[in-house]
Amino acid sequence: MSPLTAVVDALRRARTITVLTGAGVSAASGIPTFRGADGLWKKVRAETLATPEAFEHDPKLVWEWYDWRRQMIRDAEPNAAHHVLARWTRERPGTTLITQNVDGLHERAGAEQLIRLHGSIWHVRCWKACATGCTDWLDNRAPLPQLPPRCPHCGGLVRPGVVWFGESLDRGVIARALDATRCDVFLTVGTSAIVYPAAGLVHQAKRHGAFTVEINLEETSASSGVDVALRGKAEEILQEIDRAAGTGH
Ligand code: APR
Repeated sequence: MSPLTAVVDALRRARTITVLTGAGVSAASGIPTFRGADGLWKKVRAETLATPEAFEHDPKLVWEWYDWRRQMIRDAEPNAAHHVLARWTRERPGTTLITQNVDGLHERAGAEQLIRLHGSIWHVRCWKACATGCTDWLDNRAPLPQLPPRCPHCGGLVRPGVVWFGESLDRGVIARALDATRCDVFLTVGTSAIVYPAAGLVHQAKRHGAFTVEINLEETSASSGVDVALRGKAEEILQEIDRAAGTGH
């Protein structure tokens, strides 16, 4: 049985499916990954832009970078990978989508049951966590009229609603993600499997007895631990699986 057929077969028999995605899923939409050849972290040092210390030090510089990314994402469209996964979440009961991506392209493709591990680039909150500004709110203006943007409640700075290096993930979000590792099939798609706790989920799923699958252009540190590793573009392989599993339109 070919690796792809084994995956299609497992998906056909599955009652519960969990999919974890990373930046590779948005690559075909023109959004650079973080660690790929043209990756964001190849061009800028994460410590200078994606940490609370960097924001404390130079909030304008940090916002200039997020504002640039927001405009790039605004001009992008969800690709076939986003559309296949979104339809699975809408049409296949028992499907959960976990993403590390903050770009909102899964949502724009109409995904449901979505768990956002690293927050959203389209949400902001008060940096000083003032009483009214301490929970995230949507601000999808791109470009932002003022950099750095100000909290409408206390006049202080607002920060992007993403999880920065050195920050913990929301406990409720992690608990939901861990729950979703109790599934029949777990797919990890377009992630280098370097950043934890996200990178631990596929191994947790395996321990729970899930059939585990990786879809990636290249080998990652998760590859040796999954049942099937499919090499190639997520936007192509997911369409192929979708057609073969008879869930395609
Ligand atoms: N199809 C499948 N995989 C792809 C594609 C594609 N079209 N294009 C790139 N990839 C793969 C790369 O081979 C790489 O393994 O996607 C992966 C992207 O890895 P990273 O750039 O490290 O992104 P990700 O794993 O999502 O990063 C995790 O790190 O920087 C932080 O918070 C940020 O959420 C991010 C986290």
